[in-house]
Amino acid sequence: MKRIFTLLAIVLASSALAQPLATKYGASPLELSSKKQWEKQVRPAVMEFFQQEVYGKVPPTQPKVSFRPLGEGEAFGGKVWRKEVEMTIGTTKALVLIYLPANHKGKVPVFLGMNFKGNHQIAPDPEITISPNAPKGKELGTDPERGAASSRWPVEMITEAGYGIVTLYRGDIDPDFDDGFQNGIHPHFYAEGQTKPYADEWGTIGAWAWSLSRVMDYLEKDKDIDHKHVAVIGHSRLGKTSLWAGAQDERFAIVISNDSGCGGAALSMRKHGETVEAINRNFPHWFCDNYNKYNDNEEALLVDQQGLIALIAPRPVYVASASLDDWADPEGEFLSALYASPIYKLYGKQGLSSKQQPAVGEVDAEGYVGYHLREGKHDINAWDWAHYIKFANKHFFGK
Ligand code: GCU
Repeated sequence: MKRIFTLLAIVLASSALAQPLATKYGASPLELSSKKQWEKQVRPAVMEFFQQEVYGKVPPTQPKVSFRPLGEGEAFGGKVWRKEVEMTIGTTKALVLIYLPANHKGKVPVFLGMNFKGNHQIAPDPEITISPNAPKGKELGTDPERGAASSRWPVEMITEAGYGIVTLYRGDIDPDFDDGFQNGIHPHFYAEGQTKPYADEWGTIGAWAWSLSRVMDYLEKDKDIDHKHVAVIGHSRLGKTSLWAGAQDERFAIVISNDSGCGGAALSMRKHGETVEAINRNFPHWFCDNYNKYNDNEEALLVDQQGLIALIAPRPVYVASASLDDWADPEGEFLSALYASPIYKLYGKQGLSSKQQPAVGEVDAEGYVGYHLREGKHDINAWDWAHYIKFANKHFFGK
């Protein structure tokens, strides 16, 4: 392993166009001379680095995963068709909610992403089964929070544009707190005698990302789904998750990160907003234990987060920020998209079209790397989605 990292460091430092490792932004743009060099030498080492030092590896012991279709039916006054599927990982059960345009002809391209508080929160649809581990509503036993997150999931707009939505609740895969990895799916992966992931094994984000790939396994078999046109999407911690899922699994044809910040699209070496130390202190379960080596020591990272974006090349990737989201470092998110763009060039594809961060409310999404800076706070809303739909239309269907 040391050897491969040393090799990467040499390649990065000796490539003709490389900047010094520590630039003004503390990040090295990935500038290499050939696609072959990227694919054969650098990409495998960058992948290994993120697996071993940041998100952690998926352990070799794998539980059985199965899927069981549950009910189907109309939603949104007949405009939308709802399907539900139960995914079982070992003994852990998660519910997958699928919304499709009701009148679709043929297979439907979809956006796949996790939700924060339960499937029933994404829409005021009384038929959505409450995710097994969703937090209970204020009145126990009732579901007053149906549709509470509907501003984040403009279902009608997405389905009217011809896309489906596939979502599952993060807490059904792994609860989002430091439980020593006793709940959720991690224990199903322990070797004999193991009680928690090893230092280079996955945390919660790794488990969430892996589960998105398992949902993709299902989508490949669902006759309603156009599995060649699946865009993986996530907001914030779930945007870190969509990037990592998209980096590892090439079946995701577009990858979208909405306000993913530290440990997502933002460059860590800038130390602007949330830092590696802060994220590991506040969310000790998100990354692998090895990531703690970089607390207040970001310069030691072999490659900054632009390496994560580059792993997605040549597939289209979209990074979005919000103007009031300083904690997620919008400029750092933009710069990693910019610094990953030369890798797209190796494939003859344009990354970002400008070296300037777009102004508030502006978009740079002509190429294979898209970016926008939405006005407003840390969130995902219809404005963001309108641009993701446009990006998908262009890359999936040349529209
Ligand atoms: C916190 C955390 C971020 C994360 C965000 C979210 O603010 O510090 O890293 O992205 O929560 O998931 O909303």
